[in-house]
Amino acid sequence: MRHRIIVAGIGPGHGDYMVPAAYQAIRSAKVLVGGRRALSQFATDVQRTMAITRDIPAVLQFIREELAASDVVVMVSGDPGYYSMLDALRREFPEEVLRVIPGISSLQMAFSRLALPWHAARLLSFHGRRPEMEELAYCKGALLGMLTDGEYNSQKISSLLMQQGWPGKTRLFVCERLSYEDEKILRTTLEEAAKESGTGNCVLVIRDERKEEG
Ligand SMILES: C[S@@+](CC[C@H](N)C(=O)[O-])C[C@H]1O[C@@H](n2cnc3c(N)ncnc32)[C@H](O)[C@@H]1O
Repeated sequence: MRHRIIVAGIGPGHGDYMVPAAYQAIRSAKVLVGGRRALSQFATDVQRTMAITRDIPAVLQFIREELAASDVVVMVSGDPGYYSMLDALRREFPEEVLRVIPGISSLQMAFSRLALPWHAARLLSFHGRRPEMEELAYCKGALLGMLTDGEYNSQKISSLLMQQGWPGKTRLFVCERLSYEDEKILRTTLEEAAKESGTGNCVLVIRDERKEEG
C-alpha cells in the first residue's frame, strides 16, 4: 500500500478553531511533522516527530524516509493553501501522495474578528517574502489583508504604504495572537502606526473608508 502525506491545517492556533478532520488525523498519526509550537501543543510521546525548521530539505528527506513505512501528518498553521509547506511538498511529491485538510487561515480569522466580508480584499504576504510594489498601490475604497514577519512589521509596512500614496488617515487593524487567550486587536491609522514601534508576525487589515468612484 502506498502511504500518504496528510497536510493538516491547524488554524490560527487555538484548538477550538481546528476542524475535526485535522484533529483526528493529528491524534492518529504515527509520524507527525510541524513547527515547534504546534508539536508542543499536539504531539504525544508515542509519535515519531520532526520539527519544521529553516532546513526544509532535511524535513523533506525525513518525510520521504518515513513514508516507506507509514503515513506522515504535516501540521501547518492556518490553511495549507495559503503560504505554507504545502508549496515545497507539492514540488517534491506527486499529487496522489498528498491529502490536504483545510484550516481556518489567520486572514479569515482576522476578517471575522472585524466582522468584515473579505471577498473584495487584496490578500498579500510579507512573511519571508516581499509583494510586488504594484500590489501595494493605493486605490480608493481598497481593503488589504496581509501576513507579516519579524522584519516587515506594522510600523515598516505602514510607512511603505504611505510612500505608495496611501493616506495617513487610512484605518489599520493590527491583529495579534488571533484565537489565543491573549489575542489583541489594535485599531489605529497608518500615520499613527508609522510612529510607533512595530508589531510583527501578525495579520494587518488595511481599510480605506473613502468610497470607490463610479
Ligand atoms: C507562514 S505564515 C502561514 C500562514 C497560514 N498558512 C495561514 O493561512 O494563516 C505565518 C504568518 O501567519 C500569520 N499568523 C498565523 N497565525 C496567526 C495568529 N494566530 N495571529 C495572527 N497572525 C497569525 C502571521 O502573519 C504569521 O507570520
